[in-house]
Amino acid sequence: MKLDTRAVHTGDRKRTGTWVPVTTPIHTATSYFYDETSDLDQALGGTLASPSYSRYGNPTNDALEELLASLEGGAGALACSSGMAALNLALMAALVDRRRVVLAASALYGATISMLTKVLEPSGIEVIFVDFADLEATAAAIAKNRPGVLLMETISNPLLRVAPLDRIAAMANEAGAQLVVDSTFSTPVITRPLEFGANFVVHSLTKYLSGHGDVLGGVVVADEANLAPLRALAKSLGPLLGPFEAYLVMRGVKTFPLRMERQCANACRIAGWLANHPAVAHVNFPADPKHPDAENIKRTFAPGLYGAMVSFEIGGAEREDIFRFMNALEMIVPATSLGDVQTMILYPLISSHRDLSPKHRARLGIHDNLVRISLGIEAVEDIIADLDNALKVFAAS
Ligand SMILES: Cc1ncc(COP(=O)(O)O)c(C=O)c1O
Repeated sequence: MKLDTRAVHTGDRKRTGTWVPVTTPIHTATSYFYDETSDLDQALGGTLASPSYSRYGNPTNDALEELLASLEGGAGALACSSGMAALNLALMAALVDRRRVVLAASALYGATISMLTKVLEPSGIEVIFVDFADLEATAAAIAKNRPGVLLMETISNPLLRVAPLDRIAAMANEAGAQLVVDSTFSTPVITRPLEFGANFVVHSLTKYLSGHGDVLGGVVVADEANLAPLRALAKSLGPLLGPFEAYLVMRGVKTFPLRMERQCANACRIAGWLANHPAVAHVNFPADPKHPDAENIKRTFAPGLYGAMVSFEIGGAEREDIFRFMNALEMIVPATSLGDVQTMILYPLISSHRDLSPKHRARLGIHDNLVRISLGIEAVEDIIADLDNALKVFAAS
């Protein structure tokens, strides 16, 4: 079945008796028992695929995990309480029995950089950053540091760079390293990293997959070889998603391919409109034929889909100017997240990349006049009208 069909059906409608619920119920029980203790014994031992204790597995989460593994083409998945919990779990699982060296793309979500430098490094894991768009530098860093794990994002936040996922996966496989890919920005309708040879895919479920701004969650999807170690680790660490949140995500995923299509189309229109606005100095958007990673995009993205994020620099704007612009928006929501049905705007300087020093931000190319928009599903004319009106603050100054 096609991804759009699987998004609606996979994991759902499990038969529990003579009747079948049309959606998966929220199983709140923390533990389960059986008429025969031998069945509980087997459930606890893993030889009977049945629940025993909710930290080991729960029918609501199981249904969601089956769904997400199917969308990504993975062997299985583990739903976590947030995207960061999922990323941490994926890195821990990838490092099992491997050299404790992580080679990370330099362009990453700010909290991910903080996790690497402020949590993993102090715990004895060596972390090296390199520009994954520079294949020569990446190959040299692999040869020199012999990393156990490589970490990258499919579309970087907030500059929307697209690293050569296929080439990086080949290099990781050749070096015997595990590749962990945060695919939150691209989602499985645009690219499926496991198909290119990645070992783990991570999503913040908080974003496009749930899509309504009402649930915090994450997921790790693993290939066959890594599924058992991932599950074993999760059993010990317990970073799991609650069943109510799992239900909300599952409900969101049913409409995710439809939403994504509309959001991507809106992003294309807005990027084009912004590029022609006199107040706008520069636009970052993967559909731009002059995008520095156009070749990578052609090879690794579904045709005609470029994501639903646009970032842009406002000519000569300083922090206070950006504040005035954001205050002038009437419909677009100035909140810290992305991927929701409503269009949202974020100022990386005060939110996603707040914890980085100004020098670090400058080195990454995140300038103080950069804002990021996550396009929603509204009529594009209304998004343009709101931006147009708010950008007038620059004409007046
Ligand atoms: C690319 C990316 N990965 C991971 C996360 C973390 O997700 P969560 O907030 O669900 O922990 C975010 C959050 O914005 C993100 O943008």
